[in-house]
Amino acid sequence: MSEPKTYYITTPIYYVNGKPHIGSALSTLCCDVLARYHGLLGRKTWFLTGTDEQATKVHEAAVAAGIPVEEFVDGLAAEFKQTWTSLDIHPDDFIRTTEPRHTLAVQEFFRRLQATGDVYKGLYEGWYCVSDETFFRDSDVGENPKCPNAECGKPLQRVQEENYFFRLSAYSDRLLAHIEANPGFLQPEFRRNEVISFIKQGLRDMSITRANTGWGIPVPDDPTRVIYVWFDALINYIAAAGWPNDPDQFAELWPADVHLMGKEIFVRFHATLWPAMLMALGLAVPTTVYSHGWWVDAEGKKEGKRTGGLPHPTEFAAEIARVSGCNQAIGVDALRYLLLREMVFPGDSEFDTDSFLRRYNSDLANDLGNLCNRSANMAARYCDSRVPQPVEADPIVTAMCADSVTAFHDAIREFRFNAALEAVWRLIGSMNRYIEEKAPWKLAKQGETRAVDDAIYHCLEATRIAGTLLLPVMPTAARCVLAQVGLGDEGAAPSFVTDLNWGGLEVGSVLPPPEPVFPRIDLAAVQTAPAQKEKKLVTDEPAESSIQVQEPERPEYIGIEDFLKVQLRVGNVTAAEKHPNADKLLKLTVELGDETRTVLAGIAEMYQPDELVGRQVVVVANLAPRKMRGIESQGMLLAADVEGQAILLRPETQVPSGARVR
Ligand code: MSP
Repeated sequence: MSEPKTYYITTPIYYVNGKPHIGSALSTLCCDVLARYHGLLGRKTWFLTGTDEQATKVHEAAVAAGIPVEEFVDGLAAEFKQTWTSLDIHPDDFIRTTEPRHTLAVQEFFRRLQATGDVYKGLYEGWYCVSDETFFRDSDVGENPKCPNAECGKPLQRVQEENYFFRLSAYSDRLLAHIEANPGFLQPEFRRNEVISFIKQGLRDMSITRANTGWGIPVPDDPTRVIYVWFDALINYIAAAGWPNDPDQFAELWPADVHLMGKEIFVRFHATLWPAMLMALGLAVPTTVYSHGWWVDAEGKKEGKRTGGLPHPTEFAAEIARVSGCNQAIGVDALRYLLLREMVFPGDSEFDTDSFLRRYNSDLANDLGNLCNRSANMAARYCDSRVPQPVEADPIVTAMCADSVTAFHDAIREFRFNAALEAVWRLIGSMNRYIEEKAPWKLAKQGETRAVDDAIYHCLEATRIAGTLLLPVMPTAARCVLAQVGLGDEGAAPSFVTDLNWGGLEVGSVLPPPEPVFPRIDLAAVQTAPAQKEKKLVTDEPAESSIQVQEPERPEYIGIEDFLKVQLRVGNVTAAEKHPNADKLLKLTVELGDETRTVLAGIAEMYQPDELVGRQVVVVANLAPRKMRGIESQGMLLAADVEGQAILLRPETQVPSGARVR
């Protein structure tokens, strides 16, 4: 049997006229996730990204910065590489269009098309937009020579010059026939329809050179001209795959399985010009060309280099780490998750820092955090920190897992990354409800040990499946989740072929001490400063900090007399219930010697009411009573703050109710 073809995935190559931002990060992250996903399915993958350096606008940016252009592009290409590494994005190859392998391929492509007659010389008269690096005809432009692209609108250059043309008009029928015969070629479907109408409006031959003003790939044997940057840039996909000098590598990689990019460079360039260029040379066209939408502002306008409104991804991840208190790698994973969950593929989505942070808390700290922490804590408490023996597989839970796995695969294959994550979160949500319903702490009190073991096994096993599914998106955090269910790094490399079925956990295996992965962000303490938001998040001026957090006050010493003012006493919890009007509060009845108090505590996310009844707590007994959501609290419980989670304090051994603490 012959080896399956290497799965070849590409991002657009990025103009090096500015730093990366979370728009460029989106295409690159999608490709990294696809590479990891197919790798987990056992396929050999090849993931290419790079930088587009021969554009007029890149030259203009270097001139404006007063830096020699070679030095300018070297600096920004390094910045892009470093940014991807910082986001745990690991391409197999990074191509720069100033590299000899690329220049050589572009010139050879040009020569071969000249030889077949598909490239010919003619007079070009029309308009050119440097910002969009696009030619426009008189009929595209109104009275006022401004770029017809609504996102741009910049003044156009009038061009009248001898140029080389590509015979694009000859390929309309073949393009339409290919699109029709291959429904998976252009995705999503509604954009395929845009391409069909664009081609049906009539394709004209296209100018593919410009006058040589000192930057660009020279036309072979005609140094007065350079090759138009789009004609040059698209060839990166085959140049990096070994064309024309490494036929073995080329045969292994080409055609690309997926070209992925934003919508503005889909119709004209990736879905029309590029396949026509390949057809002209008799090369196979890519299997799938997919375009996603943009990060837009509240008015639906594209955010990016032009508006300066998108954060630098590395800085954004560092800010998430800083405001949540998690480590850098987890901050990166949180950003990876949030980018793919907040973008509603394949459309546009508004970029809003606040909603990213809110989602961090709700999805990562709460939903995923709760499932993980509660499963691990219950296993530690009731199962001696081992994977317990289930009674039998609960068909409802196994079906939930299987549905989540199927929905995840389906969504990734359609490039709906947000939907893939939603599928995992449906499982997480169901399992959090399962814990509430089964209430293993109640079963434990009733001495139902087999039922406790059974419920906890189901929680751990579902957590394992959810954690495995998250590997392509959050590689570090998913490994932490798997470590919580006893699958540390020392085991076999994870696989989507074998590890997504029910029953992967080994009964009796030892679990490590529970350790929360995503600490909560104290949103009240985090203020996004609207006036600074735009300025501080811009990509070209490295921001000190994009999110402002109130600095904690400096500790001041207190005298013993101050400490003695606080009366601390041990109490017995005799009853507990949820506060009827506040999700986060529990209402406890606490006996302090012969006194009975009502104490409200913000611990509903960490403790079930029933598990608290009968345990001892430490109470601040002389705190002024305070009404919270309609109920008066007559004291406060002491708790350790572990990454935002409250862990209640209690005496080491049972002590008389009401005992003083000093
Ligand atoms: N150099 C060309 C691509 C040549 S590919 C042969 C180019 N470069 S770019 O730097 O301008 O854009 C690269 C990618 O970044 C595009 O896919 C574009 O859609 C994406 N984004 C730029 N701003 C964006 C948003 N605001 N939102 C999402 N992606 C956006 O075009």
